[in-house]
Amino acid sequence: MNKQPHVAVVGATGAVGVEMIKTLEKRNFPVGKLTLLASARSVGKQLTFRGTPITVTELTKDSFNGIDIALFSAGGSISKEFAPIAAKAGCVVVDNSSAFRMDDSVPLVIPEINGADVKKHKGIIANPNCTTAITLMALYPLHQSFGCKRIFAASYQAVSGTGAKAIEELKQQVEQLVQGKEVTKEVYPHQIAFNVLPHVDSFLPTGYTKEEMKMENEGRKIMHHPSFRASVTCVRVPVYRSHSVAVNAEFEKPVSVDDARTVLKKAPGIDLIDEPENKKYPMPLFTSEKYNCEVGRIRKDCALDNGLAFWVSGDQLLKGAALNAVQIAEELLK
Ligand SMILES: NC(=O)c1ccc[n+]([C@@H]2O[C@H](COP(=O)([O-])OP(=O)(O)OC[C@H]3O[C@@H](n4cnc5c(N)ncnc54)[C@H](OP(=O)(O)O)[C@@H]3O)[C@@H](O)[C@H]2O)c1
Repeated sequence: MNKQPHVAVVGATGAVGVEMIKTLEKRNFPVGKLTLLASARSVGKQLTFRGTPITVTELTKDSFNGIDIALFSAGGSISKEFAPIAAKAGCVVVDNSSAFRMDDSVPLVIPEINGADVKKHKGIIANPNCTTAITLMALYPLHQSFGCKRIFAASYQAVSGTGAKAIEELKQQVEQLVQGKEVTKEVYPHQIAFNVLPHVDSFLPTGYTKEEMKMENEGRKIMHHPSFRASVTCVRVPVYRSHSVAVNAEFEKPVSVDDARTVLKKAPGIDLIDEPENKKYPMPLFTSEKYNCEVGRIRKDCALDNGLAFWVSGDQLLKGAALNAVQIAEELLK
């Protein structure tokens, strides 16, 4: 790999794409050249990288000649069509969509957990689902020490997880409601302002949603733990940024709150914020724009054997998308 790679961001104008550009800059990723790609709608738009405006160009089949690394965040159908073309052109794709995550020939990577899997790539590396990534940042260190059998969880997912249009929809609905007007609904099937929707992604015949099953399926692959089980309810909440997850986990070995805190204090990429007596616990308002996720409200689960209950929050645009993708690119340069 070129040590000063030519990097492309596909979906550069989106909620994740913009964060990718910022993350490349903030982490001093040794970008030799940056190409910004989006749909025909964005051609000519300019985005700034290291103080220099870069003009967005249209994604086409010929966009990848000479590009070393392409960070994709333009949705699953774009990834399915263009990631193989990019890989064939000799570029390594880091894909944020769900298109290739469960493909056996594609590594699915959280660098703090299975960074070594990056080396097995055949041109495409997948970035995990955002809720799964944030949960595993706290769960995996506990699994390493105590052996996680299964979890029950409920997510509280921010609207920016749906993309730039959903951020606008929440803003607009809040303004409309404050002014006593009827709300406009375009992105979500129901009003999201002052409401919660127990519906993220499409429903499966089992009654779970696709998003809910990502925790078990992607969790097994990332943790190399084929018997891991997860029963999850995913909920969209009127929060702009950062997902939170309430987790109840059952372990093979007995685990105390003190043991769990000791393990989590040393774990990479996660901060322990657990002083309920001082009203200190993770909250999405305070994890936004931070690289590290936060874990707290750790207690012995009163309904599970060897169980722990905890609460984890993290910026899903960063650890759930842009940051994780750039960390994968950093692994490629090692
Ligand atoms: N948001 C999150 O927290 C999050 C987390 C993890 C993974 N992801 C995944 O990341 C992807 C993007 O999500 P997002 O939230 O950033 O969405 P978004 O804000 O809606 O942005 C979508 C991006 O894709 C581009 N795009 C759409 N159609 C295109 C086309 N035909 N050709 C080229 N570019 C096209 C858009 O360009 P225009 O501006 O020109 O339309 C825009 O740059 C999705 O696969 C999503 O599942 C998102």
